[in-house]
Amino acid sequence: MNRHNARLVWLWTHDLQGIETAPPEWLELLDNDECWRASQFRQEKDRIAYIAAHALLRSALIHTLKIPKASLIIDHKKSGKPFLNVPRDITLDITLSHTSGMVAVALSQAGNVGVDVESIELKHIPDNDFSAYGLGHKEIELLASLSEHERRETFIDLWTSREAVAKADGRGLSLPFSQIEIDRSLGIATIHEEGSSAKTHWTLWREQPSPVHRLALAWPRGRGELRRINEQLL
Ligand SMILES: CC(C)(COP(=O)(O)OP(=O)(O)OC[C@H]1O[C@@H](n2cnc3c(N)ncnc32)[C@H](O)[C@@H]1OP(=O)(O)O)[C@@H](O)C(=O)NCCC(=O)NCCS
Repeated sequence: MNRHNARLVWLWTHDLQGIETAPPEWLELLDNDECWRASQFRQEKDRIAYIAAHALLRSALIHTLKIPKASLIIDHKKSGKPFLNVPRDITLDITLSHTSGMVAVALSQAGNVGVDVESIELKHIPDNDFSAYGLGHKEIELLASLSEHERRETFIDLWTSREAVAKADGRGLSLPFSQIEIDRSLGIATIHEEGSSAKTHWTLWREQPSPVHRLALAWPRGRGELRRINEQLL
């Protein structure tokens, strides 16, 4: 904990613009399973983004925990959520996201954390049928009233926010997005559990890490303080 006793949430991004092949030192950070998964991508840009995200996560952990590369074991829950399996008493939640041209990772002392980054150029934006996206009536009404450009921006904001919350929660896309309520003006989100009054509350941080990328980060409301790190680790 820092000197104010706040639990911290650290966020890094890495812009992949202009990178045509992953440098060997990124691959050297990956474990055998990650190297194998990296080799399975058909599109080079997807392979670069996968390698960069996993290398950035490992680099952020080595940098923050001051532990050697060989001591870092990252496992996955059945849901796919990654977790740190280190031979020390460390409670740190981890998350990563990769898309064409941009990757993001976050570490959290403040409980579960989830990050999502998307390219506004690639993300499919529905013209008018938003029924499959778990949006609320007011959100659908708002989207229908916007110009194409504003609709794209707003849809991606709503989507990345829900994905970040679903990843922090750990259920990912198996959590129906209709159960996630987003308050964009306050920067908060609520998950409503189906068939009960149980709720969890989340803080949302949203930013534009490049002109064509949008990012959302979620962690438990009232529990943490964000440290946005601009220092390049890769
Ligand atoms: C997680 C999920 C929302 C990913 O969204 P995306 O926009 O396609 O991809 P992103 O790059 O933003 O995130 C991918 C990363 O999320 C993480 N992740 C996967 N499942 C996750 C989950 N349930 N909760 C939190 N994080 C998860 C992984 O680190 C993954 O990286 P990797 O595939 O390179 O190892 C979505 O793919 C999902 O829900 N996956 C779960 C799959 C599933 O149902 N698994 C069940 C296995 S039984």
